[in-house]
Amino acid sequence: MKILILGGTVFLGRAAARAAVEAGHEVTCAARGVSGSVPDGVTFVEIDRSSPDGLSALEGTFDAAIDVARWPSHVRNSLAALEGRVGHWTFVSSCSAYSDDSVPLALAHQLPLHDPLPEDGEEVMENYGPAKVACEQLFAATGVPTFVCRAGLIVGPEDIGNRFSYWVSRLDRGGEILAPGTPEDYVQWIDVRDLGAWLVKAAETGLTGAFDGIGAPVTRSEFFDGIASGLSVAPSLTWVPQEFLAEQNVSPWAGERSLPMWLPLPEYAGFMSHDVSPSLAAGLIQRPLAETARDTLAATGEGTAIRAGLTAEEEAEVLAAWHKSS
Ligand SMILES: NC(=O)c1ccc[n+]([C@@H]2O[C@H](COP(=O)([O-])OP(=O)(O)OC[C@H]3O[C@@H](n4cnc5c(N)ncnc54)[C@H](OP(=O)(O)O)[C@@H]3O)[C@@H](O)[C@H]2O)c1
Repeated sequence: MKILILGGTVFLGRAAARAAVEAGHEVTCAARGVSGSVPDGVTFVEIDRSSPDGLSALEGTFDAAIDVARWPSHVRNSLAALEGRVGHWTFVSSCSAYSDDSVPLALAHQLPLHDPLPEDGEEVMENYGPAKVACEQLFAATGVPTFVCRAGLIVGPEDIGNRFSYWVSRLDRGGEILAPGTPEDYVQWIDVRDLGAWLVKAAETGLTGAFDGIGAPVTRSEFFDGIASGLSVAPSLTWVPQEFLAEQNVSPWAGERSLPMWLPLPEYAGFMSHDVSPSLAAGLIQRPLAETARDTLAATGEGTAIRAGLTAEEEAEVLAAWHKSS
């Protein structure tokens, strides 16, 4: 098949391009070429989607195309430029498109979406989900068969987000480890290579409809077990409840002085516990967590990571305060 990837110079786009090449497809990646580089074996076309005529270098027709855009203007410009030239679209949206993160084990069709952000806005988190909803609607209006993949937390080699790799590095370092919340809380992620492979498989099979692009949820205790088995370590975990972490000014999810992949409950009880049985039935295959952890550790230090998590000193401080109070 002739597959076009709008993107392909970083993380997920690159993984999808690599998977498409490995599956024997003729792959074109189109981007500005400023964020990174495309994998071997693809044709790179320089485009700029921020202007309506910025895609003029992209010629010919494609059996399928995959788009990772974040802004409605980029989608509008590419859909106009490629009208009648793409047989099947995959749009990589986000679980942030949902407006309710509190419902555990919900199916994609059960959750409400944000109101769409019709025009591009400021690059702030509040605009991200609404912009994705607007993009989804632009694809729906084309009438071309479209797979909307609402990705959850994407992890693995080449991830600069550092939310998953914090835990891999932390378990690898050893000592007393601050584990947030309870062992029963849900955790959910997808290895970038598995998601990339699914995007390609969906293009091959002409999958349509909206699905969550994330693996099945596990408990946080199973999450630590999976990482530990990949690294062959036996972690010494100290579970600290969310209320105490909040008192200690530990932020959830990401950023400095945070504990990644931990979110306040019950407000976010659904964010990392989507029921993804329809995605698994539609061809998503998730590799063992142990493998993702091992490969992530091997790739740690490559590229520039965005800092997430507690420093060793911050963690020791919070643990000392917890032991003193309990
Ligand atoms: N990471 C996560 O955990 C997570 C979670 C949920 C959903 N998602 C979604 O998953 C997708 C991740 O995609 P990704 O990893 O490939 O990263 P990305 O950062 O979304 O990649 C954007 C791509 O578009 C290209 N691009 C940006 N501006 C452009 C322009 N003006 N004209 C042409 N091309 C442009 C970039 O290349 P150049 O800069 O070289 O042009 C890059 O290849 C995104 O849709 C994201 O919203 C991610």
